[in-house]
Amino acid sequence: MKYSFVLAALAALADAALRFGCSTVSIQRLDPVVEPGNSPSAHLHQIVGGNAFAAEMKGDIGEQGTCTTCVFSEDFSNYWTAVLFFKHENGTYKRVPIMANDALPAGISGGMTIYYTQQDFNSNGNKFIRAFPPGFRMTVGSPTQGADGLTKHKGLRFTCLDNKSTRFPEIDDFPKKPCKGGIMTEHHFPACWNGKDLDSPDHQAHMYDTQPTGFAAGAACPASHPVRMPQLAYETLWDTAQFANMWPKDGSNPFVFSYGNQSGHAYGTHADYMFGWKGDSLQKAMNSSCMFNACENGKPLKSQSVAAMNACQAKKVVNDNLDGWLTALPGMT
Ligand SMILES: *[C@@H]1O[C@H](CO)[C@@H](O)[C@H](O)[C@H]1NC(C)=O
Ligand SMILES: *[C@@H]1O[C@H](CO)[C@@H](O)[C@H](O)[C@H]1NC(C)=O
Ligand SMILES: *[C@@H]1O[C@H](CO)[C@@H](O)[C@H](O)[C@H]1NC(C)=O
Ligand SMILES: *[C@@H]1O[C@H](CO)[C@@H](O)[C@H](O)[C@H]1NC(C)=O
Repeated sequence: MKYSFVLAALAALADAALRFGCSTVSIQRLDPVVEPGNSPSAHLHQIVGGNAFAAEMKGDIGEQGTCTTCVFSEDFSNYWTAVLFFKHENGTYKRVPIMANDALPAGISGGMTIYYTQQDFNSNGNKFIRAFPPGFRMTVGSPTQGADGLTKHKGLRFTCLDNKSTRFPEIDDFPKKPCKGGIMTEHHFPACWNGKDLDSPDHQAHMYDTQPTGFAAGAACPASHPVRMPQLAYETLWDTAQFANMWPKDGSNPFVFSYGNQSGHAYGTHADYMFGWKGDSLQKAMNSSCMFNACENGKPLKSQSVAAMNACQAKKVVNDNLDGWLTALPGMT
């Protein structure tokens, strides 16, 4: 009796996994999570998602803006990371373009691949996965962290690409040689919430990470952070092809992120998230059993064309020069 009751209860839980593309909505020096109101913010970001993205964002982001660059047209969230630059031996910098992932529909302009998984790709681990609430925000990693940051954040990784499908090995710093197919940066966020705070002073203390590494099953959430949420992850593919013949003669790493750490290491890699799905759309997806693009076309999520994604842009309020060879990184003089 008791056994069959347990089975019935578990059967009610679902095992959805979202993986979808979002094109670039802006490349701009703004950071509404870490530096709200600062225009410009300290360093440059590449952003995808809703077009309400601005220096300061309050309240329910799902109700702000008029379009999104994501495949799922009810997802007005914003997702962002630092921007990768190539530093030439002559001391000037050039922004590394972002290319679309080949697992996604053709024609997406730059952008990122976004994942919302449960315990892992195939299971929710028999736990209810609670969608983020309106107003929720968080960051992972920090521009000032050293090598120890990667012990703390096991989901911050790099892949030296042979082609767009290369996924292994994952390394915890910039590749030490030119990569034929570009460089992929990966940012996995923690998935255990304290159940109370939409944010915290460091934008991280309200969350707790139990994932052993990248796309792996998350262990049980601790009592301090008991609420299991989706495991959010970003993949960004940087097109380094034009720099292949400019690798420094002394063998040093020529890549630098927009936050300007010149150590040759990428330990300060970080990412930001501002929840903005409309209504209960993300919860509906987490309650369903759809996987990847099978969640589109109203099953259960509304979706849109690549042309509609690419047509959406956030307002440009900071006018840094981002093209060509620059004498300094934007904001770093
Ligand atoms: C630095 O190198 C790039 C690439 O060859 C070149 O286009 C640029 O003019 C150089 N800048 C300076 C200041 O030498
Ligand atoms: C730059 O990165 C190095 C290597 O990770 C680290 O030791 C140093 O503290 C960082 N500098 C700043 C200003 O964050
Ligand atoms: C892409 O690279 C991986 C190794 O990183 C290799 O296994 C795979 O066959 C390559 N795919 C194509 C289409 O070349
Ligand atoms: C998701 O599932 C929970 C638990 O079964 C239920 O309470 C909630 O109403 C569902 N939400 C949606 C949007 O389907």
